[in-house]
Amino acid sequence: MTGEVTGVIGAQWGDEGKGGHTARLAEEHDVIMRYNGGSNAGHTFDYLGEEVNTHQVPSGVLFPDKLNISGNGVLLNPVALFVDELPKLRAGGIRINEDNYRVSDIAAMVMPHHVILDNAREAGSNSQGTTGRGISYSAADKYGRENFRTEQITENPAQLMRDARTAISMVEAIGIDTANVVKAISKKDGDETYRGISSVDEMLEQWWESAQLLIPYLDNTIGLIRSHLKRGDRLLAEGAQGIGLDMELGTQPLGSSSHCGVGGMINGLGINHEDIKRVFGIAKLPMTRVGGNGYRFPGLIEDSEIAEALRGKRGEIDGEFGKSSGRERDECYPQVPPLVTAVESGGVTDFIITKMDKAEKFGPTMKVAVGYMLDGVRIDSLPPSAAKFERCSPIYEELPTWRTEDIVNIRSFDELPVQALGFIGLIEEKTGKPVSAIGVGPFRDQVIVR
Ligand code: IMP
Repeated sequence: MTGEVTGVIGAQWGDEGKGGHTARLAEEHDVIMRYNGGSNAGHTFDYLGEEVNTHQVPSGVLFPDKLNISGNGVLLNPVALFVDELPKLRAGGIRINEDNYRVSDIAAMVMPHHVILDNAREAGSNSQGTTGRGISYSAADKYGRENFRTEQITENPAQLMRDARTAISMVEAIGIDTANVVKAISKKDGDETYRGISSVDEMLEQWWESAQLLIPYLDNTIGLIRSHLKRGDRLLAEGAQGIGLDMELGTQPLGSSSHCGVGGMINGLGINHEDIKRVFGIAKLPMTRVGGNGYRFPGLIEDSEIAEALRGKRGEIDGEFGKSSGRERDECYPQVPPLVTAVESGGVTDFIITKMDKAEKFGPTMKVAVGYMLDGVRIDSLPPSAAKFERCSPIYEELPTWRTEDIVNIRSFDELPVQALGFIGLIEEKTGKPVSAIGVGPFRDQVIVR
């Protein structure tokens, strides 16, 4: 008996509404695993009528009988986990303990100096528009083979503490005023992890305490995953961010430091490609981008009334504001090329289109980019370069939209308005993959599965 892995990946720039669909799929699986990203990610769920957010923890925690794993590909921040995420989830009535949550003992950690470096860069002229969670510098140390891995907490704690302090000294040696950066981090909107921290020493102490709390959760997750596969279990690999932010395939260097597609799943969990049976690519009807840092995103909606109607209001469960950073998201017309990349390089076998209830906000028709012109040549997928992407002009097709009221209360594809079926048909024709479900609202039951 062999088990199998189902994947869920973001087919755009993150924020596609993966959370709700991942949670729906989690219910049908035994083990739910995160393989990439870190506390830069934010998934939103409705839980007993309340909004809850996860960042590093898989969505299986919403269900009492699931095993949850943060795999070796996650850039693990113990402080964000124990000071912010777990207390909030527990306050919402969610049970998380060493029995239902395991963390890879070889994951690279996000250390205090990573967070300081990220925030110092963001405050300067070479800001990248990051979430300020220390992700890029943690990845840099991981690939530089500095030993800030979770296993060091127990294998060589004295060395780990020394290295953590040395790294801070090195940051100070390049002229960064760490005390000032820490002050700014402690007051930052949208991130309560370091709230009230008043010095670098306190930040190091807080990290050390959180690292100790992590010890009972640490495990050889690669072996654990294999044993569940051997038992015939069903495993769900829950992706963070999206293909446009992928370290190799996205519009770099303005992406994140993760592998968001099937490649990240294989490496970030230590599984075999043959274990993966199906990969759902989540795509949102109005495409959005947050933190592009001023670069010209092709297909941005110029009409501010339409953009605002699509964005909704701060505080609404489906409002377009970053769950990790609170930043306003830019609204774009629907675009097929990122979805083609999600298939060709990200491994998508089926699409799930979210926010199908928002089409009428575009007016009677909406433009859909079916390709781009880049330097006089037509391309049908995403160029893996921010510089080239900025030079792309979308090739649009104009499609009729449909009314929200004609879609929110139906639960079968057969009853969908012909205009909605037209849009779905276009995605299927251009990507060669089926749309197997759509979302028609922010709640988990507002989904139509084919
Ligand atoms: P970092 O991952 O914090 O280093 O940020 C790098 C880029 O990825 C920035 O443009 C962020 O806005 C973006 N980003 C990172 N995580 C997410 C996410 O979960 N959703 C959407 N954008 C993200």
